[in-house]
Amino acid sequence: MRPPATTRAERRPRPLPELAHRAAFAGVSLLPPRPQAAVLRRYFDWWHRRSDPWGIASDAYERYKHHATLRLVPRRPYRRILDVGCSEGVFTRLVAAAYPDADVTGVDISERALARARRAAPRLTFVRSDLLGYDRPGAFDLVFCAEMLYYLGREDRLALASARLVRLLAPHGLLVLVHPWPESDDLHRHVAADAAVDRVAEHVDHTVHRPFAVAVYRRRANPGTGDAAAALTAGR
Ligand SMILES: C[S@@+](CC[C@H](N)C(=O)[O-])C[C@H]1O[C@@H](n2cnc3c(N)ncnc32)[C@H](O)[C@@H]1O
Repeated sequence: MRPPATTRAERRPRPLPELAHRAAFAGVSLLPPRPQAAVLRRYFDWWHRRSDPWGIASDAYERYKHHATLRLVPRRPYRRILDVGCSEGVFTRLVAAAYPDADVTGVDISERALARARRAAPRLTFVRSDLLGYDRPGAFDLVFCAEMLYYLGREDRLALASARLVRLLAPHGLLVLVHPWPESDDLHRHVAADAAVDRVAEHVDHTVHRPFAVAVYRRRANPGTGDAAAALTAGR
């Protein structure tokens, strides 16, 4: 199921539609966090007016990426797992199947997406929330956040979101970030700079038409204060 290969040398300028997409979300992030969340909620409910709007359930590339993500996670028992920006729960269900003894929760800003997620997996927990408003400090020993951080927009929101993600982790808990490469270098940099976590693995897949990075960070038992934690304090 490998999509057609490209090489690292084929690193291309970012396509115009992608740049316009990022600029639009940066514009929304000029609003304060609550109005920003309100706009995102309406937008993603509208986007989910039809099921599986990104083709996540059917697309070979998405399936390939989901399996590559799971492969990079150290195999050990996890008790509480969170999937942030879970949409209709396609990856959330894969995680639940891989870790059948864990409590698995999906969070998304779109109620319409979550209604479908709940219908497909009634035993899993799905919570409607904006990432910036979801505060369960130390509640999870494994957190996924895939294909989501580019919606946060400008730098301070990305820093705030990164701090939120780190804060969700229990001591020694793992945070797994999955985003298109090379944009992932920017999107992951606040987490990477956070003294509360260490990066334990990273895999960049250049073999696909849309290269992606999977990065795994582990929370320290006695976290220091890094950029992301400082952003969270400043953002309160
Ligand atoms: C492209 S989908 C990614 C789905 C899934 N993570 C995957 O990779 O297969 C992005 C999801 O993030 C959600 N989202 C966007 N901004 C969010 C925010 N601030 N808080 C929570 N969810 C958000 C959207 O509603 C959408 O369902």
